[in-house]
Amino acid sequence: MTHFLHRKLNSTLPVAVRGEGVYLYDKEGRRYLDASGGAAVACLGHSHPAVIEAVIRQIRTLPSAHTSFFTTEPSEELADYLVSRAPEGIKRFLSVSDGSVAVETALKLARQYWVEVGQPQRRYIISRKQSYHGNTLGALSVSGNERRRAPYAPLLSESVTHIDPSYAYRYQRADETPEQYGLRSANLLEEEILRLRPENVNAFIAETVVGATAGCLAAAPGYFRRVREICDKYGVLLILDEIMSGMGRTGTLFACEQEGIAPDIITVAKGLGGGYQPIGGVFANAKIINAIEAGSKTLANGHTYMGHAVACAAALAVQKVIEEEGLIQRVQTLGNALEAKLRERFAAHPHVGDIRGRGLFWALELVIDRETKMTFEPALKLNERVKEEAQARGLACYPSGGTADGVRGDHILFAPPYIIEEAQLDDIVEITSQSLDAALSSISASA
Ligand SMILES: Cc1ncc(COP(=O)(O)O)c(C=O)c1O
Repeated sequence: MTHFLHRKLNSTLPVAVRGEGVYLYDKEGRRYLDASGGAAVACLGHSHPAVIEAVIRQIRTLPSAHTSFFTTEPSEELADYLVSRAPEGIKRFLSVSDGSVAVETALKLARQYWVEVGQPQRRYIISRKQSYHGNTLGALSVSGNERRRAPYAPLLSESVTHIDPSYAYRYQRADETPEQYGLRSANLLEEEILRLRPENVNAFIAETVVGATAGCLAAAPGYFRRVREICDKYGVLLILDEIMSGMGRTGTLFACEQEGIAPDIITVAKGLGGGYQPIGGVFANAKIINAIEAGSKTLANGHTYMGHAVACAAALAVQKVIEEEGLIQRVQTLGNALEAKLRERFAAHPHVGDIRGRGLFWALELVIDRETKMTFEPALKLNERVKEEAQARGLACYPSGGTADGVRGDHILFAPPYIIEEAQLDDIVEITSQSLDAALSSISASA
């Protein structure tokens, strides 16, 4: 009997004992192709020597030193490295322990900004449905993932409201161009700001490319430019959550580079440390930092593992490898190859309604019927069946549910390591195809 509190208490999971490149191995010697890097984490695979060496070197020298007494070389170097490559206006970087804490920190920084500039009545955060920003209570409050929110509903903040996402496959009208829809979906933000009254609104938070909740969903063209305009018009802060989509995953270091805008605050995590250490991070622009510098001069929020030396050393090594090995270029090239392969195999599949993504971040949205876009009954747990079938065939991918409206809908997400080879992309497509068909057959058999 296990004493570990597993996600599913009665599950008998394989024991992962070793990682090598894009593969994980279990205790029985079975090999799994890691097609989603866990949850879009393992951007360099599982055994990069430069990162392992950096971690060992740092642990030998100094595991950690508390940020209220000291700074450290790795935390300073990581901040220098990242800020010099960050979108326009970004002034400082803070590392924390994971994605949820990065979002908590971002929300608190935004709130502190308004307190510092003498507008403490700005309480509302506007977020979007079908989004995920983390599982701590603040991050979950801004998340639009219905299933994950439900058990904790009474504990979630009442200072958060949710608007519809920019989700062309489901919400674009037949008489609209993608650009018209981009504008209409962005204007939902303006309506919501006016409804709450601008002087009460603190920030808008969105995933630049929505990850696990909606399945690699990029906004319609022009959406984020209009969002930036609206935020500027009403003085609302713009927080972009790039915890899944950042650090090269979509083919640029920051996903927002492809939107042609710079937010006030950015959160990152997963691909920051690539799984070699738990780490998340928050970037803040000059507007926020200058306000704090002119006011209290003190970060109101703190955590023990901010600026953790080993985590920062690991992240710095990961980021240097990404740049030195030209991996962002590789994400673009292999991303194009993955898109072509997914389209070739699934474009005519009767139960694949949409194929979407950017870089090495792609998803298949599953439907009963492509014409009506009707979703499978959630009780059938199609996404879980696909996951099980894939894992039994040696493929770890990331299927999820609630895609269409937070409750209904299924998708399969791929986020392979940037070091993957093209032949391994063929394996991903082939095994996914077999697993999807097996999952669909098991549903028909049980009907
Ligand atoms: C976009 C996004 N934000 C926040 C989080 C929370 O990160 P963590 O699981 O590291 O707390 C996640 C995790 O999946 C995420 O995808």
